Amino acid sequence: MRININQLRNLKSQGYEPTSSTLDDTYFDEYQNKDFEAGENLLELFHENTKYTDAMDFKLEPSAVRFTTESGFAFMQAKLRPDYAGAEVIELPEPEPLDEPFHKVIENRRSRRQMAGEGISLQELSNLLYHSCGVTGHKHVDALDGAGYEEEETDHGADDDHDHDHDADGHDADADHDHDADADHDADEEDDEDPVTQSFRAYASAGGLYPVENYLLVMNGGPDLPCGTYYYVPEKHGIRVLDLDPDLADKRDELFSLSTEIIDVSDASVVFALTGAFWRAMAKYGPRCYRYIMQESGHLAQNTLLTAEAMNLAAIPLAGFKDHGVNDHLGIDGINEAVIYTVAIGKRPLITEQSTPDP
Ligand SMILES: Cc1cc2nc3c(=O)[nH]c(=O)nc-3n(C[C@H](O)[C@H](O)[C@H](O)COP(=O)(O)O)c2cc1C
Repeated sequence: MRININQLRNLKSQGYEPTSSTLDDTYFDEYQNKDFEAGENLLELFHENTKYTDAMDFKLEPSAVRFTTESGFAFMQAKLRPDYAGAEVIELPEPEPLDEPFHKVIENRRSRRQMAGEGISLQELSNLLYHSCGVTGHKHVDALDGAGYEEEETDHGADDDHDHDHDADGHDADADHDHDADADHDADEEDDEDPVTQSFRAYASAGGLYPVENYLLVMNGGPDLPCGTYYYVPEKHGIRVLDLDPDLADKRDELFSLSTEIIDVSDASVVFALTGAFWRAMAKYGPRCYRYIMQESGHLAQNTLLTAEAMNLAAIPLAGFKDHGVNDHLGIDGINEAVIYTVAIGKRPLITEQSTPDP
C-alpha cells in the first residue's frame, strides 16, 4: 500500500512519537543503566530490520546481481535523476587544483560558525563542487548487448600538471573522455546521443548509484552568482537555476532551526542542501539503502568541508534544518526525495573564532 504524503504528515499531528521515550526523570537513569526495552523505538526497529542476514541476502541477491550483470539496469540508474531539463544552466569555470597540503587540511578542518555575509565567485563554487562531488571519471556501459560493463578510465578536471595515464592498460583516458565533450548537452538530449556513459564522482557511492543530489541555496550572491536556489548537474559541471531570489537569506527561519547566537546561516555564501533520491538505491538494496544514503551524504559532506578548508573558507555541517521547510522550498515531495543533510559554506570574517562549543 502506498501512503500519500499527507497521510504520513498526519501521523505526527495524531500524536505519533518518533521516539518512545519522553524526557522525564527516568530518562537519564534508563540511559545510564542502559536499561532500554528492545524494539521500542524506530531506530532499533529500522536497524534490526535492515541487518544483512541470510534471509535478506536471499531476497536482495537477485536484484543486486541484476544490477551488476545487466547493463540495462546500470544504464537506467545512470540516467535517473530529478528532471530539471529546461531550467537555465550556468556553466562553471574549469575547476582549479587545490594547493594546500592534504595533512594540513585534515589537521586544520574545524566547524567554523562565523561567516562574513559575503558571496563567493563562480570560480570558487566550481572548485568547491568539483572537489566535493564532481565527475572525476567515466565508465562505458553497453546498454544493448546485456553483457555488462566495459570498464574504462578516469579523467580529471583539475590536475593539469599530472600525467593522465590511469588505466591499467596505460592508454590516455583524457584523449577519449574529455570532461565536457562527454556531457556537454542537455538532459533532454542526453538519452539518445550518449546512452552508454556512466559517471563516477569524487565520493564513494554504494553500487555507483549516486542517490544523493546537491541543491545550492545561495544566501549571499555576487555579480556572476545571484542569490537563489540551484541544482548541481555533475555531468555538465554546471548549476541549473531553479529560482532566483534576492531575499533568500530572509527565509533562514523557514529553512533552519538554529539559534543565531550559535550560527547565522544567512551569513553563509551558499548552503549545500543534500537530498536522498531514495528509490534510486532502494531498487537494488531495499530499505537497507537508507543507511548507505546517509553514509554517502557524509562522504560528500566531508569532501566539502575539506575542500572549503583548503580554500580558506568557513564551513560547517548542519543537521538543524527544518525538513518540511527545505523540502517545500526545493519543491520535492519529502518521501521519494527528501533533504537529509546540509553544509553551510562562507567567507571567513577578518577576525574569526576558531570554533564555538557544541550547541
Ligand atoms: C551530522 C552532523 C550534524 C551537525 N549539525 C550541527 C548543527 O546543526 N549545528 C551546529 O552548530 N553544529 C553542527 N555540527 C557540527 C558539530 O557540532 C561539530 O562537528 C563538532 O562540535 C566537532 O567539532 P569540529 O567539527 O570543529 O571538529 C554537526 C556535525 C555533524 C557531523
